[in-house]
Amino acid sequence: MKQIPMLDLRGEYEYMKEKIDAAIATCLGHQAWILGPEVKALEAKIAAYLGAKHGIGCSSGTEALVLSLRALALKTKGQEYFDKTDEIITTPFTFTATGDAILRSGARPVFVDIDPVTYNIDPANIEKAITKNTVGIIPVHLYGQSCDMDRIMAMAEAKNLFVVEDIAQAFGGGWKGRKLGSIGTTGCFSFFPSKNLGGFGDGGMVSTNDDALAEMIRMLLKHGGRDKYNVDHIGYNARLDTLQAAVLLAKFEYIEEFNNRRRVIAEKYNAALAGVEGITVPTVIPDAHHVFHQYTIRTANRDAFQASLKEHGVSTMVYYPFPLHKMKVFDGRCVAHDLSNAELAATQVVSLPIEPLQDDETTQRVIEAVKAAV
Ligand SMILES: Cc1ncc(COP(=O)(O)O)c(C=O)c1O
Repeated sequence: MKQIPMLDLRGEYEYMKEKIDAAIATCLGHQAWILGPEVKALEAKIAAYLGAKHGIGCSSGTEALVLSLRALALKTKGQEYFDKTDEIITTPFTFTATGDAILRSGARPVFVDIDPVTYNIDPANIEKAITKNTVGIIPVHLYGQSCDMDRIMAMAEAKNLFVVEDIAQAFGGGWKGRKLGSIGTTGCFSFFPSKNLGGFGDGGMVSTNDDALAEMIRMLLKHGGRDKYNVDHIGYNARLDTLQAAVLLAKFEYIEEFNNRRRVIAEKYNAALAGVEGITVPTVIPDAHHVFHQYTIRTANRDAFQASLKEHGVSTMVYYPFPLHKMKVFDGRCVAHDLSNAELAATQVVSLPIEPLQDDETTQRVIEAVKAAV
């Protein structure tokens, strides 16, 4: 029996091979490996696509978050790092990097609970957690679906807080017709190979409409100065590689097609599985343009469910088994509010294969396997 993978990166490469190979060949010709012309071209292309003023390539989604927060500490406090008393509110139901970036910026993560239907941070809980020490909010658009950006931006404006959008899982996603990454103070993207727009290695980008922040981020990612031999700030070597930018430029041509393919597969899953007892399919909120980085269902019997799917040759993954406040790294370094929705979700969620190029027959096999499992 042929195993159905979560994703088929080789298949995607074959589909785009001509364009990707040509892009790499161009780099081999010019040999401008550090901040070469492809980095600038990708930054301009993505900024225009998002409707944001600046796109700043960097080495990963994690570094995009750290660079954003460090630049915000410099801009808002005139300090290299935030103080330990500075609080940044986010979700515990995310990849480690979201919370880790807060620690690396010097601030304290404040974890508030998710909405159990969308798995995204619940704005009502943000409101309750705001204190005089709150400096910002990091909404994470989990699985490809936007958070409620109207309520989050309204709260942030009223309380003078920054909003750093974590868009690692939602490239191309939107909120009320606006692209994610054009709404918050900054938007942070990951080009990790499995992401909707993924490179051939690590990569990331920050989007922003703020000129001063953009300039600071550009300095920080190149060692902390305009001149790398005479620097002003504690910086990083966190540039986006020319080669990654070239691959991403080639793959960017397919992003709308691929996101639409994901949405079509998700619709097929939803249509077939919505009424099936024992599982809950994803809910798409009307104002969000969901790009289904993951198709995630929940079931009370996850271990047995995954074992059964495996027997039927269907891969599954759990994003994420541990909410951040349960991890040692955050022990004693965070504020944890009531997080019972996140804790329950962590024991029940399971993601199904959603490879954009997966054919109908494969989608049907997954559906049958899910039905058999429950
Ligand atoms: C929600 C979220 N935030 C941040 C990251 C970090 O991105 P990267 O792996 O590019 O550092 C990821 C992905 O891995 C992610 O899923």
